[in-house]
Amino acid sequence: MDEHDLGTDPVATLQAWLEAARRVVPEPTAMTLATASPNGRPSARVVLLRGLDERGLTFFTNRESRKGEELAANPRAAAVLHWWQLGRQVRVEGAVEEVDPGESTAYWETRPRASRIAAWASPQSRPLAGRHELDARVAEMSRRFENGDVPRPGHWGGYRIVPDVVEFWFHRDDRLHDRIRYRREGAVWLSERLAP
Ligand SMILES: Cc1cc2nc3c(=O)[nH]c(=O)nc-3n(C[C@H](O)[C@H](O)[C@H](O)COP(=O)(O)O)c2cc1C
Repeated sequence: MDEHDLGTDPVATLQAWLEAARRVVPEPTAMTLATASPNGRPSARVVLLRGLDERGLTFFTNRESRKGEELAANPRAAAVLHWWQLGRQVRVEGAVEEVDPGESTAYWETRPRASRIAAWASPQSRPLAGRHELDARVAEMSRRFENGDVPRPGHWGGYRIVPDVVEFWFHRDDRLHDRIRYRREGAVWLSERLAP
């Protein structure tokens, strides 16, 4: 991989890599998202990358989940996408902002009814007495919304990682992999090659 082939805009490159992954990877938008508590304890989980444009990387979740609470207290995140079939990894770091309610609602309305009921029923990241408690909550929410639409709960919405670092990694069989890191300096992106 040559750094000149990647261009000057890492978001455009990430979009191109994602398109390439869509052709060969079953779930190309699965992204490991790392957040941290205010005292620095990290946590990571997989979420789906639902939007990617010049503003950043968007995902949706329950704002009362562990990640939501960590982001409320410490609005920074790192994310990793890995496409084994392509030998490619992308790492992103940046500040995190909530997407506006209209955008969250627009995405919510594309979700299947069962997923919307599940979002109402699940106290995401909280301990449960057992599966029965979750089943009972699903039954209760199914009854509550049986005669109409399932609106977006106020505690559910999107976040956008506004990237200030993006690293592209390309596998080589000799283990001398290519790594090109972009760092945003004001309005421009500076790039440099890193040792593997
Ligand atoms: C492939 C995959 C995709 C997932 N996508 C999402 C997602 O888009 N949003 C979400 O809240 N959780 C998603 N999850 C579940 C999360 O990994 C996680 O279990 C949940 O969000 C609770 O995380 P937390 O307790 O750290 O906040 C996904 C899990 C997998 C394996």
